[in-house]
Amino acid sequence: MKSMNHVVSNFKESIFSTMTKMAIENKAINLSQGFPDFDGPKWVINLAKEALDEGHLGKNQYAPSMGILSLREAISANYKKLYHLDYSASSEILVTNGATEAIFCACLALLNPGDEVIVLEPFYDSYLAAIELAGAKIVPVTLKAPNFTYDINEIKEALTDKTKMLIINNPHNPSGKVYDKSELSELCQFACENDLYVMSDEVYEFLTFEKAHIPTATLENMKERTITISSTGKTFGLTGWKIGWVCSSETIISAIHKVHQFNVFCVAHPLQVAMARALEKMDEYIIEFKSEYKRKRDLLVNGLKDAGLNVLNPAGTYFALVMLPEGENDVDYCKKLIVENKVAVIPTSAFYLKSDEGKRIVRFCFAKQDETLLNALKNLK
Ligand SMILES: Cc1ncc(COP(=O)(O)O)c(C=O)c1O
Repeated sequence: MKSMNHVVSNFKESIFSTMTKMAIENKAINLSQGFPDFDGPKWVINLAKEALDEGHLGKNQYAPSMGILSLREAISANYKKLYHLDYSASSEILVTNGATEAIFCACLALLNPGDEVIVLEPFYDSYLAAIELAGAKIVPVTLKAPNFTYDINEIKEALTDKTKMLIINNPHNPSGKVYDKSELSELCQFACENDLYVMSDEVYEFLTFEKAHIPTATLENMKERTITISSTGKTFGLTGWKIGWVCSSETIISAIHKVHQFNVFCVAHPLQVAMARALEKMDEYIIEFKSEYKRKRDLLVNGLKDAGLNVLNPAGTYFALVMLPEGENDVDYCKKLIVENKVAVIPTSAFYLKSDEGKRIVRFCFAKQDETLLNALKNLK
């Protein structure tokens, strides 16, 4: 048989699948994968049922490739209301199969073989796959634990004449960091001075506890060069619906859409209808959503502290990191935790390419029922 694509041949099983498999085998409580072990809001699920019953109106057939207009209008209205960002519903918003498809299509649409992309590590694993499938090269720069600050000089040193894009993930998985305005301004100034695209992955935009989220595109001169990506998976606890979007200038969205149309063409129609209706009622929902997740964060963080672990308090996302004692290794520690304590978490070395820092850090997910969190804490004590 002939060989496969050389990039694909190098892909390994994701750490999330490996840990979940081990958790099942060992009957461990799974705090590894980043999704809730409880259902999304009933009222949103009911909206989907209603949409499914509207088949006579064509709602069970292909949706428009850019996404249904009412969803794009709802997304546009939210950006305007929440952040004073103006994205045209007709030309500057594309609905995608989750943020993952948006990341993938954006990389294929904008990168050429040989281009370089600066990514702040630790980073979400699909960036590497998307960049490499586009034939481009990832250039990691490490955010330093425990505060996950970057050194601007290291970013400047990573720049070459081939650098085309910078990826920012804010709020940041796995650290829970929420970028300050001063940090974002510095990164944006760097992007503007060097004429870079900025892909800003903001899927946790509503999971911030003490600080407000600042979309990259709101910074001076940034809207035209920023590719803003978000998703309803995290915000509505419906990760299985895979409804996300990408917003940018008309030219960039038109390029990304060309990949999307030959990749999936469109996103599940009735779920788009439900999301369009849900986004219109988001204001009341988000208040409760945030306070619930803040409560869960405090429950897990305080419990881990009581168990004697060196846990970092996240400002955003639904992850908390634990720094391991000197001499421990994240992968061995996670395996031991699954077998001996029946709790599965993620070794963060999987999020790093350059630095060894991940070997002394593990990630806990608190998007879980209180009972799950309490049982995990009991096992850890
Ligand atoms: C930083 C980040 N970006 C993107 C995604 C994927 O989002 P979606 O499920 O909408 O594809 C995730 C999911 O865990 C994530 O953590």
